[in-house]
Amino acid sequence: MPKTATLKIDTEELELPIIVGTEDEKAIDVRTLRSKTGYITYDEGFGNTGSCQSEITYIDGEAGILRYRGYPIEQLAEKSNFIDVSYLVIYGELPTAEQREAFTARLTREASLTDGMVRLLEGFPAKIHPMSVLSASINALGAYYPHIASNNHKRDLEHFDDAAAIAMAKVRTIAAHSYRVARGLPLNQPKPEYGYAENFLHLMFSEPGQDYVPTPEVAHAINLFLLLHAEHEQNCSTSTVRMVASAGANLFASASAGVCALWGPLHGGANQAVLEMLNAIHDAGDDGSKFLEAAKNGKARLMGFGHRVYKNYDPRAKIIKGSFDKALESLGITDDPLLDIARNLEATALSDDYFISRKLYPNVDFYSGLIMNALKIPVDMFTVMFAIGRMPGWVAQWHEVASNPKARINRPRQIYVGPTPRDVS
Ligand code: CMC
Repeated sequence: MPKTATLKIDTEELELPIIVGTEDEKAIDVRTLRSKTGYITYDEGFGNTGSCQSEITYIDGEAGILRYRGYPIEQLAEKSNFIDVSYLVIYGELPTAEQREAFTARLTREASLTDGMVRLLEGFPAKIHPMSVLSASINALGAYYPHIASNNHKRDLEHFDDAAAIAMAKVRTIAAHSYRVARGLPLNQPKPEYGYAENFLHLMFSEPGQDYVPTPEVAHAINLFLLLHAEHEQNCSTSTVRMVASAGANLFASASAGVCALWGPLHGGANQAVLEMLNAIHDAGDDGSKFLEAAKNGKARLMGFGHRVYKNYDPRAKIIKGSFDKALESLGITDDPLLDIARNLEATALSDDYFISRKLYPNVDFYSGLIMNALKIPVDMFTVMFAIGRMPGWVAQWHEVASNPKARINRPRQIYVGPTPRDVS
């Protein structure tokens, strides 16, 4: 394999180093390009730009491969759970029994919110989107832990274990409390005897004197949903987290920015958009065929389909789809018109040249919204669920930036195409 690439601009030639990752991913290192030639690279949307070197997640989009710290997502989904996978993503290895116990104990300790945080949640208007509440509240967490949120990476890292546990434990409680506050319902307190997913359902749905106890299949489906969303390398929200962290910002500020990016319908907001799309198709009396024609003509977008990186079936979508039937069965749901439409859309799109030629396959959001809908999670909470799942990934990525002594502030350049100098008359 060549060690350098040669770039020829006019008569000048420049040797640029080649970087190879552990999975043989190759990159041309252009860091000296501008200082040596005056040129920059132009890559709107960053489809060809490696923004960092990372040890956390490997994706081969053409082959439909996703691995956290080297472990295939399929094996983790089958043999592990969200807590162990979070530990793996954050600390690099699956936990030993002792490490699991200590990690779980930290999460349990940090599960409740202070009165001040509850008052903050109560201050938002009831009709506000919960992703807005979530981003504001996660940023506000820093105010309660100034020693962890000092915006001095060296100091913040001294308390990293606490910060990671606070972010993971409290994102779930903030999410569930915001749901109940918006509906004027009394708040539930986390219970140490429940697992992470069960606790979330308890916080959301338990009523005074009657705990919500999910079927094992439902608890498994939520656990799996969270596990599959735990990390996904340099997507829009994670790149945002790293961007904010690169300026020296603390974990809570960085993760809060990640929540904002995730909210967008082309990213994490797609799970909400999928359900809204299916409902609209259903209300219009369509079986999906007319909608697909509109998508092909550029008049609509088939939400839950396509991906910047996966040019094959998203491996997470395959796993989610597999667990779906069991969860529905355990809930006694045998007939779901939205599911019929989703299946029809998928089957038709996968045999249609428009989608085949553009390598558009179902992504993780295509079926996840249907699962959450079946679990009676309101549609505007779907992306919040994604954020709860993604927290370990953001924590791990923030740590990579904060602990890298060579990290530089992220600062892309641009090609200016505005007016040339002119005078104010
Ligand atoms: N429906 C119809 N056409 C599509 C779709 C879609 N969902 N996605 C891409 N295309 C077309 C696009 O119009 C373009 O066509 P043409 O070549 O004729 O101009 C071609 O496919 C290539 O698309 P692109 O816009 O270059 O793709 P991108 O990499 O910029 O965007 C995407 C990726 C995920 C934003 C896009 O596929 C999309 O909008 N999908 C729907 C939203 C969605 O499901 N997002 C969740 C992504 S997975 C969860 C996550 O990690 O965020």
